[in-house]
Amino acid sequence: MKFSFWFSGVLLLGLTTVVAAESSAPTHLPNLFPFPNATGMLKTFNATGKLDLTGPFFQSLGTNGRSCASCHQPGDAWSVSAEHVAERFERSHGLDPIFRNNDGSNCDHSINTSTVEGRREAYSLLRTRGLFRVALAVPTDAEFNVVSVTNPYGCTETSTLSMYRRPLPSTNLRFLSTVMWDGRESSPQTGTQSITFATNPTDLLADLAHQSVDATLGHAQASTPPTAEQQKKIVDFEMSLTTAQAIDFRAGALDSHGASGGPLPLTSQPFYIGINDPLGLNPFNTPFTPVVFTLFTDRWAHNSGREHEREHGDRRASILRGQTLFNSRTINITEVGGLNDATSTPLIKGTCGTCHDTFNVGNHSIVAPLNIGIADVSNPLGTDYLPVIKLRNKATGAEVTTTDPGRAMITGKWADIGKFKGPILRGLEARAPYFHNGSAATLKEAVEFYNIRFSMGLTHQEITDLAAFLSAL
Ligand code: HEC
Ligand code: HEC
Repeated sequence: MKFSFWFSGVLLLGLTTVVAAESSAPTHLPNLFPFPNATGMLKTFNATGKLDLTGPFFQSLGTNGRSCASCHQPGDAWSVSAEHVAERFERSHGLDPIFRNNDGSNCDHSINTSTVEGRREAYSLLRTRGLFRVALAVPTDAEFNVVSVTNPYGCTETSTLSMYRRPLPSTNLRFLSTVMWDGRESSPQTGTQSITFATNPTDLLADLAHQSVDATLGHAQASTPPTAEQQKKIVDFEMSLTTAQAIDFRAGALDSHGASGGPLPLTSQPFYIGINDPLGLNPFNTPFTPVVFTLFTDRWAHNSGREHEREHGDRRASILRGQTLFNSRTINITEVGGLNDATSTPLIKGTCGTCHDTFNVGNHSIVAPLNIGIADVSNPLGTDYLPVIKLRNKATGAEVTTTDPGRAMITGKWADIGKFKGPILRGLEARAPYFHNGSAATLKEAVEFYNIRFSMGLTHQEITDLAAFLSAL
């Protein structure tokens, strides 16, 4: 009783502050301010103290009223949840700056944004899935031609492709081995740098500065780039942030009972490019271990047995079982572009950590674009809300259909079609839906994808446990 009363007080405080942040604009938030979501609360630790909401990250630096924070919200793990985007649409009748037709609408032409109903339709992918239109020119030296684009929203051009993607979190950035889903802000092809063990973090900082320029000119439609000082302030700000789920409503504080969840332990998590890589790319040749997450310990398996503790204990045990499944459940990995073909191993007996190998973070610790089938038209979660793009190999004449060529739009390589990075797996609960195209509405659906795609044979309980674990990250 006491706990839930205290809790709803914080919930209200959280909501009013978020609302206030958009209208009368407070200038700061306390460090570790708790933002509620469906299963608990998310917190961000800012290395420089209280969270300053007045710097260039929060300023409109372009012409359409948007700031970085329009699409990278502190309470949504510095991404945006589709649920909160939908609320912003209703509150503002679709006039909030996130709703701009350069990349917020399904297409940028042949739309009517003069009425609320017109806007509701024009921004349907953003409202329902939190997707932005990423338009990229087909590389001139690409190994493929675009045969056709079928797009329910228009935007069927074949020289510039429209792809629909989720904002990645602008937090926990020191763990990045590649910037953007397709790595385009960390690739020589775009004048940015690959992130390597030898050059990190100088490479990352330069890439993030470059990204802040592209975001300001693109998303915010600025006519001039941010100044060097603004770029530095944006990058310093982003790099000072560490974000994680901190409290689970049923399990309690995620750093209690000997656990090390929440943002504070994450600030001291050791990392270097290549750490725990399974394919021999660890610069120290340390052997790979599938035990990637060690946040929850055996003490979480035990229930005190006291009535009022039992529900908390059940939830803790479920989260711990999920962690164990992540670290140990065998996955027969087949036909993953960038993995099975790259190693000439048709069947890899792996785990979740084969691809999500960074300790207690879960992205790939070294650049490794992979095609697990999320962009395939046959994705079992369904992709009928996305365009279908048909590509033909210039040399062999082979044809493929995809909803998003991914990395291939940067490198031009046939082999890179459908490849994306494995993102950081912290702060997940606050930023549904999942995968680059938002095809998994919930964490359970994300787990279901793997269950079907790799015939894992997970039970309902195992799916629940894995989803509980992911929600506690
Ligand atoms: C209109 C929405 C929008 C705005 C405004 C915006 N972003 Fe983003 N951001 C996105 C999307 C969408 C992606 C992922 C796109 C992709 O990978 O193709 C992204 C990706 C990123 C990433 C990459 C993270 C990673 O894991 O690779 C960073 C960093 C970032 N944004 C920072 C910023 C900064 C800084 C600004 C302001 C200068 C900004 N963004 C403005 C939508 C936005
Ligand atoms: C073969 C490599 C591979 C394996 C094995 C793998 N993943 Fe992934 N994971 C990826 C890639 C690549 C992505 C990004 C895919 C995309 O969006 O196109 C991803 C994305 C995710 C996401 C979405 C994150 C976000 O920000 O949207 C979750 C959640 C996830 N994986 C959980 C898991 C779990 C749980 C397991 C084990 C059951 C697992 N993964 C096994 C490669 C893998």
